[in-house]
Parts: sequence; structure tokens; C-alpha cells
Amino acid sequence: MNNRICEILNIEKPIIQAPMSWITNAEFVAAVSNAGGLGFLGPNAGQVDITRSPEISAERMRTEIQKIKSLTNKPFGITVIVNRDLNYTWRILETVIDEKVPVVLVNDILDERIFKPLKENNIKIVYRPLTPTIENAKAAEEFGIDVYVATGFDEGGTVPERVIGTFSIVPMIVDTINTPVMAAGGIGDVRGVRAAFALGAEGVFAGSVFIPTKENPAAENVKQMIVDATAEDLLMFRTLPAYYRSLPTKLANKLVEMDKQGVSREEIAKMMVGSIGMRIGMLEGNTDDGYISVGTGIAPIKEIRTVKEVIDALMQDFN
Ligand SMILES: Cc1cc2nc3c(=O)[nH]c(=O)nc-3n(C[C@H](O)[C@H](O)[C@H](O)COP(=O)(O)O)c2cc1C
Repeated sequence: MNNRICEILNIEKPIIQAPMSWITNAEFVAAVSNAGGLGFLGPNAGQVDITRSPEISAERMRTEIQKIKSLTNKPFGITVIVNRDLNYTWRILETVIDEKVPVVLVNDILDERIFKPLKENNIKIVYRPLTPTIENAKAAEEFGIDVYVATGFDEGGTVPERVIGTFSIVPMIVDTINTPVMAAGGIGDVRGVRAAFALGAEGVFAGSVFIPTKENPAAENVKQMIVDATAEDLLMFRTLPAYYRSLPTKLANKLVEMDKQGVSREEIAKMMVGSIGMRIGMLEGNTDDGYISVGTGIAPIKEIRTVKEVIDALMQDFN
């Protein structure tokens, strides 16, 4: 079954594996694309340390992109992080255009200086604001995005600032714009996919369900923790810009305690060491000093599977 998302992104099944900081790499992304979905490199893809140099970041991204191309001839995407001074963004944009990456994800900022070169090079733009709103959906459509991702509070990673679940946000955005909408947040099995389509979404954008897979670079103990957990196990605390969830780790328990004691969001964010706390928890598997971010849709995940098994199960209606 083909739909607008499949046509725009040139894929067989309307599913995007969401970019996730630290826990994507070329092998994982290529496996998603080879299985008929769209794989996405996230920030720090394939890396084990951080660089502050935009040049080195872009070169590292180029290496991962070239590796993907050696593993698949199917489309894939990368995240363009739009930072305020645009320094890093330019380097990544140059690399994307140079390497003819077919699809990019843009978070939040609508900026003609970014959109123009992407459009001139016929690169498809998937737009995922951190907090979906009627206003930013209309503005993004006017800007000429190709796909809008409506993310519910159920998601893993940095949750939206407004506490609106996937069930509510998807129809609200679908009724606002004509651009195809993908649903993100809490999709853990085929029932979630069917629900998203019933609400008017034309595709699904899923992260957590892809972590416990053979090809994902997350630590093995983290994959097993996700298989063993349900949403009831998740801890939630305030941080910047809003809230965050983690499976129980020593650090996550401490962050919850700090929150209860009224410690400021800024202080809590500092304790998380930005996304480095995610690397420590999810990539290194250190459940003392790191955190493990997943969405609330993890209960149906019962075993570690291959990426293809996950896609075949989620997208069984799309053969
Ligand atoms: C571990 C993890 C890291 C993430 N990192 C990013 C990121 O760097 N940039 C981004 O736009 N979204 C990030 N996300 C959010 C995903 O892109 C996506 O919105 C989310 O995974 C969808 O919800 P789900 O996990 O319930 O499927 C992350 C999600 C997770 C679980």
C-alpha cells in the first residue's frame, strides 16, 4: 500500500526510525532503510566522544553517511541541528548537499537560509518541532515543509513542553494542515500504528521500539532493561525545557529526588550533563552515572529483535 509519505520520501513503508542522540550509526540506519522504512542518523551518530568543532562534527557525519551508502542504495535521512549561530548547521548542510542525502529532519526553527538550499537541492524536509502547535504547523506549511511530525507527550527523549498525548495531538494537527502528518510518541506495536492511522496520521515516527534491536548500538544491558520494563517503571522529573523520563538508574533516582526537593530546572539539567548523560547511560550501559530515555509505549516490547523483524511487525498492514 502506497501513500503520500511513501511517495514523498520514496520508501516502501511509511515509517521513520526517529533520530536518537548517540544511539544511531550507519549499520543501524542502513538496516532500517533496507527493511523498507526510512533510517535516520541522529546527533553524535557512530561516535563515542563529543567534539565542539563544527568541522570535525561534519566530517564525522560524512564518514557515517558514506558508510550508509556502502550498505544500502535506499533513501535515508540525517538531523540538521539548527543552533542559534548557525555555525554547526552550515557545515552539516554543506555535507548533506555534497553527499546528496535525500531527507533531513529540522527541529523547531523555520529559517529561509536553511530551507532555500535544501529545496534547491531537492532534499525533502521532515519538520519536527519539539512542541507541536496549531501555530507552528501553519507556519511550517507556509514555509514549504514536506512532512510534519506531530509528537505527543508519550515520546522518549526531550518531551514536548505541553502535556498533550499522541492521541490528542495527532488529530489536532491533521485537522490544521494539508501537509502529511506522521505520529510520534509511544508507538510500541502494530496496535499503536493502527491507532495513529485511525487518527489521521499518514506515517509513524518511532524511536524507543528500535532501541532493543540487534543492530542498535545501545549497550546490551540497556536493551534488556527496555525488554523487561513497562511504562510503570519510568521515572519522570522536571528539567529544561520541560520534563524528562528515564528508566531507573542511580542518576535518575537522584534527579527525581532533587525535583521533589524543589531544586531548579537549571540545576537538574546541569546534573544530566546534557546529552552526555545519555551516552553514559545508553551507549556505555552505566546505570549509575547515566540516564536511559524511552517513551511510554515500551510494554509490548518482549524480546530483542532485528530491525527488519520490528518493521515487519509494526508495518504488517503495508505489504
Ligand atoms: C534515546 C533517545 C534519544 C533521542 N534523541 C533525539 C535527538 O537527538 N533529536 C531529536 O530530534 N529527537 C530525539 N529523540 C526523540 C525521537 O526523535 C522521537 O521523537 C521519539 O523517539 C518518538 O517517541 P518514542 O520513543 O516513544 O517512539 C530521542 C529519543 C530517544 C528515545
